[in-house]
Amino acid sequence: MKENWFVPYKYRMVEKISIPSKEKRVEILKKAGYNMFQIKAEDVYIDLLTDSGTGTMSNVQWSKVIMGDESYAGSKSFLEIKDTVEDLMGIPFVLPSHQGRAAERVLNSVMIKEGQYVPGNTHFDTTKGHIELAGGRAVDLTIKESADSSTYHPFKGNIDLDRLKEFVEEHKREKISYILLTVTCNSGGGQPVSLENIEETHNIAKANGIPLFFDAARFAENAYFIKQRENKYKTWTIKEIVKKMFSLVEGFTMSSKKDAIVPMGGLIGLRDEELFKNLQTPTILNEGYLTYGGMSGMVMGALAQGLYEVTDYEYLHYRINQVKMLGEMLIEANIPVVEPIGGHAVFLDARKFYKNMPESQFPAQYLTAALYEAGGVRPIEVGSNLVGRDPDTGKNIRPKLDLCRLAIPRRTYSYEHMKYIAETIKEVYQNSDKITTGLNIDVEGTGIRHFSTNFKLVDPKKDSLL
Ligand code: F0G
Repeated sequence: MKENWFVPYKYRMVEKISIPSKEKRVEILKKAGYNMFQIKAEDVYIDLLTDSGTGTMSNVQWSKVIMGDESYAGSKSFLEIKDTVEDLMGIPFVLPSHQGRAAERVLNSVMIKEGQYVPGNTHFDTTKGHIELAGGRAVDLTIKESADSSTYHPFKGNIDLDRLKEFVEEHKREKISYILLTVTCNSGGGQPVSLENIEETHNIAKANGIPLFFDAARFAENAYFIKQRENKYKTWTIKEIVKKMFSLVEGFTMSSKKDAIVPMGGLIGLRDEELFKNLQTPTILNEGYLTYGGMSGMVMGALAQGLYEVTDYEYLHYRINQVKMLGEMLIEANIPVVEPIGGHAVFLDARKFYKNMPESQFPAQYLTAALYEAGGVRPIEVGSNLVGRDPDTGKNIRPKLDLCRLAIPRRTYSYEHMKYIAETIKEVYQNSDKITTGLNIDVEGTGIRHFSTNFKLVDPKKDSLL
């Protein structure tokens, strides 16, 4: 169908990328302790570490950079964001922050009282971290289908409404700070939440006087899936769906590095003026004055424009289809991926990929390194290394899924790149049954170990991961 090949852009600026030799890549991996964060970006051919801050801005966004108003107070560029949020989301109060986690810090420092819960659908790690830092507890109530990579469910990001009802009945309003829906659910595989589920969650929240918030980093991608998969909204425009989604929440935090397609930035959106006032001091102290909050005027102008561009149907159709195409190339080759394919990334199920490797030897971490060795492709592990250790027992936590995430930056790579990535993965998969040993921790990173832990091969005689 030719519509699937419709790209609503042409490119007039490019960036040269290259690939180190195979021998060099083996050496680089060893030196990096098989940790993708320790590899220099210039040594990477296709960088799929994240879709955060890595998108390509449009010529109109660049024009906003030039027009950026750097005034300390009352910046025109900030007011453009405020007007855009009001127009698209119907939310009147906006606070700026330098990125998503900073917005989370400001919100949670005020919202959470010691010991309160924040139930939701698999909170992103920084969100969980900030809830805990403020004395709260994040409770994951995602539907059970999310734990199985091969069952199909159109909205695997949904919260389990029965469990949510039970949780609210058991703990009551006072013990629950707010309910959080992450759209799309990144940690669950970039899976969307249906409008029906948002509406039901809203009803439960409202009946109990509990505020409902969005983590809205990928709100537009979520809206596209609603249009595609939820019959009732088939004929609605993306902007109508976005308006409806946000009409059901009290507010949101947003990393603008994803769906707003800017390199840096974050927002808090609120309906309640009193909460808005209470969040002003932590915003000023942590982020900056209320009309820039850690962002430059240049970025703010581009952010406001980005919010409009990502709610364009043609953009979303191209974007979601590009990720889906990569997923389908892998499914055709029987490679185990999380299905259905998510909005911003393809996730490989590493335990199924390396059937003969013990689960304790970090199969997903190994797979990230193997893809780098095979093709200079840099994915990220979302599995045993990321989840870390149980703070009480000190033992490695066993995550439900051990995944290798290939996050696709927005408007950055071509179909040829997708094909190259798929061929690289196929090459690694061909021999995967014969791989029986993985990685051990060599030097464990302190604190958040994901970024700094160095690994070594379980079999020291091996000179290739393939
Ligand atoms: N919420 C979600 C759902 C995210 O995916 C992220 C970041 C954040 C919050 C934090 O935002 O990075 O601007 O501070 N996710 C990135 C990723 C890092 O690679 O998935 P931030």
